[in-house]
Amino acid sequence: MAPRLIVTIDGPAGTGKSAASHMLAERLGIDCLDTGAMYRCVSVLALRTGADPSDPRDLMPLIEAHAIDFDWTADPPVVRIDSVPAEQDIRTADVGRTVSIVAAVPEVRKAMVQAQRDIAAEHPRLVSEGRDQGSVVFPDADVRFFLTAEPAVRARRRVAQLEARGWAVDAAAIRSEIEGRDAIDSTRTVGPLVCPEGAIEIDTTSLDLGEVVDALEREVRNRVGKAVAPPC
Ligand code: DC
Repeated sequence: MAPRLIVTIDGPAGTGKSAASHMLAERLGIDCLDTGAMYRCVSVLALRTGADPSDPRDLMPLIEAHAIDFDWTADPPVVRIDSVPAEQDIRTADVGRTVSIVAAVPEVRKAMVQAQRDIAAEHPRLVSEGRDQGSVVFPDADVRFFLTAEPAVRARRRVAQLEARGWAVDAAAIRSEIEGRDAIDSTRTVGPLVCPEGAIEIDTTSLDLGEVVDALEREVRNRVGKAVAPPC
């Protein structure tokens, strides 16, 4: 079995983390994990049941009663709630508005961190993306990245992403949602969005997706060399 290889990619919304993680994992021949999708599933469960998204007494029974996992046969892996694909449900505006409240609840974070480490035990060659992957979940990762970009650029990317899915969006509302989410994610007491010490910081403001992935791949290959599939 190939040796464990964990690459973490953290950063705020709109830095291109998800797409870059997927492409990087593909180039390296390893799996990828979207940890934001897991917090979004908890948010879906809260909205479905009318739970208070800030109250662990409401949220923890939901996490215990429902299975949040991934279909690893899909590429990228598709998140599921009780074995039902949840990709559509987790991308709604309601979920976008509540997920950072859910993700600020320490008990929820503890459960998700454990679930992410369990996934890595099953999938030990992984690009894992989120907000706390290099700082909290995998501080001993082989390579840790932190992506940034100017807020206006991040908002524009998010709008383009949603429009590409065929959704009509209000650009000003998206920008204020991103800024609001960043503020909550960066100031929460447990697992705040921070650039982990020793992580490689990449400003993606003036890079396209291919250039971001090139930069990530270069750094990984420099650090772990032959531990990954050879370049195409
Ligand atoms: O990456 P995303 O937009 O799907 O993330 C959704 C929310 O979940 C966002 O508010 C940040 C939060 N999150 C988190 O707190 N920790 C993670 N590891 C991943 C996401």
